[in-house]
Amino acid sequence: MEICAAADIHYPRFGHKWAVALADGMCDSGADVIVLAGDISAGPDSRYHRFLELFAGFSGPKLFIPGNHDLWSDVDSPSTSSRYEASLQRIAEDNGFHYLPHNPIAVADVGFAGTVGWCDYSFRQLTPPVPDLRVTPMLPAREDLTTKLLPIDGRDNVPWEELTTEDYAAQALVWTTDGHRENLIWNDAIYVDWHAPDEVVAQELAAELREDARRIADEVRILVGVSHFVPFEEILDEPSDDVAYAYCRAYMGSSLLGDAFLSMPNLALVLCGHHHRRKVLQHGNMIVANCSVATTSARSSSLFPRTDPNDPEAARDRRVQPRRARPHPHLREAHQIADRRRTARATVRRDELPSPDGAPGRR
Ligand SMILES: [Fe+2]
Ligand SMILES: [Fe+2]
Repeated sequence: MEICAAADIHYPRFGHKWAVALADGMCDSGADVIVLAGDISAGPDSRYHRFLELFAGFSGPKLFIPGNHDLWSDVDSPSTSSRYEASLQRIAEDNGFHYLPHNPIAVADVGFAGTVGWCDYSFRQLTPPVPDLRVTPMLPAREDLTTKLLPIDGRDNVPWEELTTEDYAAQALVWTTDGHRENLIWNDAIYVDWHAPDEVVAQELAAELREDARRIADEVRILVGVSHFVPFEEILDEPSDDVAYAYCRAYMGSSLLGDAFLSMPNLALVLCGHHHRRKVLQHGNMIVANCSVATTSARSSSLFPRTDPNDPEAARDRRVQPRRARPHPHLREAHQIADRRRTARATVRRDELPSPDGAPGRR
């Protein structure tokens, strides 16, 4: 079976022509199954319909997993759960996509189970990006269509090594570089509200994934897992000396998610996105592929959510904006890849089954 997967399209950030080329490339790839692994777009439903209808000509199964940007809701009435449980499923199904959360599916003898996943700060960078760096965690708050950063009692100018999970839960940081004050907000703090701490969300979604896999496992020979957030730390880069990049590492994923995948019997392949660096790893006999296509538009993409000039919701938020990551060496290489190859492809072969104990190795 051939699977053609992409994540982090962020339509229409890279333009409609780019999106058409991507969709055409995926539809014409010869794959048996298409997987979209999150961050398809953000904002009005019309954007989703405009992009997803580009896949109308593909006759095989098309699977949809949301990303954090797909969960972004109006800041005045965040309703993340209803968007995840209902709205996005309706949008996907209206366009012929199978909505994977809570709905594992068997395609021939291959089972697919998936979740958006979430972060629990387990991948945070413990070593300071800059020696002796001191930072101030802050709490973002909306006020009159702008975002303000509120101080947190007793957390002013703390050593990087002393950042706590509560500091990361606040999701904003202030620091000084060469005498200049810099700040960063992880925008999920503003646009996502699960009504539960991130760690609890990560735990519950991982538990749901295990249950989905259990439901489908007996019907199939091998399993493919799909998430938007990163399940294995090895997918991320080495510790960074860039403060913004180092900080956002905490929001990339969860080891609980990885543990849930590794508990699946006969797991052959895991697909994810979210970290905008395409990467494929071998875990024993299992393949882990970050199929982010934002990687290939390096000049206009970064690790961080970026303000879309055409997005009125984002435009209101320009007063405090996330800082862009420095270009990464991998991205220059990725530039050379042609439009129609802007997909991550993986082949699940019968000879790539996990070892008999069903437990691919982890670092
Ligand atoms: Fe993304
Ligand atoms: Fe994402």
